[in-house]
Amino acid sequence: MARKISFLNYKGGVGKTSLIVNTAACLAANGRRVLLCDFDTQSNASIWLMRLERWNKLNAGGDGSVYSFFEKNGIQLRDLIVRDVVQDKAGKPALPGLDLLPTTFNLVDLESEYVGDPKRPAYVLFQEQLDEIAKDYDYVLFDCPPNLLRASQCGVFSSQEIYVPSNPDALSLIGFTLLVEKLGRFQQLSAGFRRASMGVPTQIRGIIFNSIKAGVDIEVPKMRMQLRLNQFKTAKRAAADAKIFDTQIRDAMVVRRAVTLGLPVNLIGQENTDQNRDNVVQDYRRLAAEIERHEP
Ligand SMILES: Nc1ncnc2c1ncn2[C@@H]1O[C@H](COP(=O)(O)OP(=O)(O)OP(=O)(O)O)[C@@H](O)[C@H]1O
Ligand SMILES: [Mg+2]
Repeated sequence: MARKISFLNYKGGVGKTSLIVNTAACLAANGRRVLLCDFDTQSNASIWLMRLERWNKLNAGGDGSVYSFFEKNGIQLRDLIVRDVVQDKAGKPALPGLDLLPTTFNLVDLESEYVGDPKRPAYVLFQEQLDEIAKDYDYVLFDCPPNLLRASQCGVFSSQEIYVPSNPDALSLIGFTLLVEKLGRFQQLSAGFRRASMGVPTQIRGIIFNSIKAGVDIEVPKMRMQLRLNQFKTAKRAAADAKIFDTQIRDAMVVRRAVTLGLPVNLIGQENTDQNRDNVVQDYRRLAAEIERHEP
């Protein structure tokens, strides 16, 4: 069965999208079948992986992205998936095994315009169809915005695991704390919709430190994060085996450039990049391997 994982923190800009795209790419490069679901209306992961020209067409068309599943009757989630999303310059698959459920800017309407059936919230509709699709994958990963509104709820309700990308600063710690609070409320709210076949409700299973600058000591913010995590574990608000990942991702210019190049970092040729490219690719590979070992 696919492992379903949401990347989420109430702090924005900590690296959720960069981590999920590059980790997904490393998993796919290792032969795993990966579906990345973009639940952020900013559409950063979709624009990055589809590249702007292809994504622009989707955004203008209005019915090929995830929101149309909620908005239009009869659209199947399966039909929205962009298979082998990463392409080379000739338009050939460059990373077989990495599929994308893309989003466009209209996903914002899920939060305001959308009138659903209270007896079948959006996250229930989504989870039911995802269940079928997930059989084709080893991993389903959800890139979420920094909140737990309707779009994120779809990812969280469908996941068994949450990983919390963080920077070594106080705001990431606050974002984590807020996340745990909101998650608790959502779990209560959604408990009545869970079916036994869904397994355990989503749990916080890890903190991932990202954008670590060379020569900067992060022991103090790491210790504070560990203390907070321990408190949540004691209160059973995080999984008993939740941990701060040993792997941390260094700060590297190539991560920012990767978006412009429309490639995950592991597919960028060395000639294009700064000297840290190999190191940061190594970080993402290690992280992917650590996630694989951290199976519940
Ligand atoms: N390891 C890194 N090294 C250098 N820059 C990074 C790294 N990780 C992320 N960034 C940059 O930091 C910025 C924020 O990253 P990203 O978009 O992944 O964060 P996010 O948490 O998804 O943001 P949002 O909350 O808006 O969705 C981007 O410009 C990204 O390129
Ligand atoms: Mg993001």
